[in-house]
Amino acid sequence: MSLNVVILAAGQGTRMRSDLPKVLHPVGGIPMLMHSLQCARELNPTQINVVYGYGGEQLQSVVCDDDIDWCQQKEQLGTAHAVQQCITNLQKNSESQTLVLYADVPLLQASTCQSLLASEADLTILTSINEHPAGYGRIVRDDDNRINSIVEDKDASPAIKAITEINSGIICADTQLLIHWLAQINNDNSQQEYYLTDIVELAVQGAKSVVGIKCEDHTEIMGVNDRVQLSQVEACYQQRRRQQLMLQGVTLKDPDTVFIEGYVEAANDIVIEPCVTLRGNVTLEAHVHIGMNSVIIDAHIGRATVVHAHSHIQQASIGQSCEIGPYARLRPDTVLADEVKIGNFVEIKKTRIDTGSKINHLSYLGDAQIGRETNIGAGTISCNYDGANKHKTIIGDHVFIGSDTQLVAPVIINNGATIGAGSTITSEVPANKLTLSRTKQITMDHWQRPSKKNQNESKS
Ligand code: UD1
Ligand code: CA
Repeated sequence: MSLNVVILAAGQGTRMRSDLPKVLHPVGGIPMLMHSLQCARELNPTQINVVYGYGGEQLQSVVCDDDIDWCQQKEQLGTAHAVQQCITNLQKNSESQTLVLYADVPLLQASTCQSLLASEADLTILTSINEHPAGYGRIVRDDDNRINSIVEDKDASPAIKAITEINSGIICADTQLLIHWLAQINNDNSQQEYYLTDIVELAVQGAKSVVGIKCEDHTEIMGVNDRVQLSQVEACYQQRRRQQLMLQGVTLKDPDTVFIEGYVEAANDIVIEPCVTLRGNVTLEAHVHIGMNSVIIDAHIGRATVVHAHSHIQQASIGQSCEIGPYARLRPDTVLADEVKIGNFVEIKKTRIDTGSKINHLSYLGDAQIGRETNIGAGTISCNYDGANKHKTIIGDHVFIGSDTQLVAPVIINNGATIGAGSTITSEVPANKLTLSRTKQITMDHWQRPSKKNQNESKS
């Protein structure tokens, strides 16, 4: 049967106290709304409707996929009123099921939604047992344990408040019936809102089947209303991602301190030490080792490469069996081939380094290209910026650059060249020769170190 998804995202999120619409706050580095969309897409729906109110342009600039129908709810008059905003879309595909998701419930899994879709009932509700049910709608069942109604916390009597089975808010209904029920809902309640939950009573009155499915993992239906709940949802999400990585064959030395903020692809036998953050799109090939306190952002790291502690890697592609750090910084557009060594306090930007080359200590290479098996000595600096423009430094294969060399770009160092330590290189260096720019060393034979004047003399 075909499927419509409605994602409710119109709530203002006042309790977040934020300039950002609530559903754009990230969980695991990904806006909450994207989590709901990802869940929806896994179900292969015919249409995805997102009901928005506050911050419409902001939402649409962050989430600009063209499989979304944006439905504006100008005033937030309740969850039924919100679903009503997509009614024309639902009518276009009414021989279907409609699943309602909340954009501020980001941990819900597609597999849980599948179990709602698989139920044969006219209306299926995802419920949960919650020992602290305050604030939630309660599931009211009759003597035969059939669902009779959902009563909102604010409208509940003490007896109903004692019920621990709660409404997650996630429902799945026959679309034609849903359209029919929505038309009958009024706002005759303590909040003067149009409650989606009122469809339960309408279904029961119309002798339609209503089924509740209990969500086994209660973290899936945790909602975010304020930043305390945001941190709780984040913690559950991180735990889930860490477990996934470990089950895939990644060793996390101290799982609780590893943070995954984005999309990570990891092969087997990877070791991640404590306090590592993986952010954006990260791919790690097998046998990669990431040292403690490292941050890896939008990067690919090749097989058996070792990143030593305290390294910061962003928008870089690193080959196999490289050694990076400790304390290395690889900035955007760094490309390392295989077996490259980048040592401590080395910064690389927009630079390609070929197989087997080494930059082991205290250097900066920007806008450069470095050949194979080249050795860049300690303290080598590419002077790539003249205050107005950036210029390229091109270094060939088998080059040896002595320590404390400045390469004033644009400049070319040809294959096999050797540069003497302490040189300032301003023009092209020929292949296979020693080039250096250095004033001759001299020694003053009769020079004497000045001595301090005696005190009496200095007073006068
Ligand atoms: C709702 C349910 C309650 C359930 C709880 C689970 C109703 C009447 N109540 O209550 O039974 O236990 O969720 O968290 O449905 N929204 C709109 N437009 C509106 C109002 C809400 O888009 O006019 C969106 C919100 O952005 C949010 C969701 O709907 O994503 C739920 O709204 P909220 O006001 O938080 O509902 P609750 O009172 O928590
Ligand atoms: Ca809520």
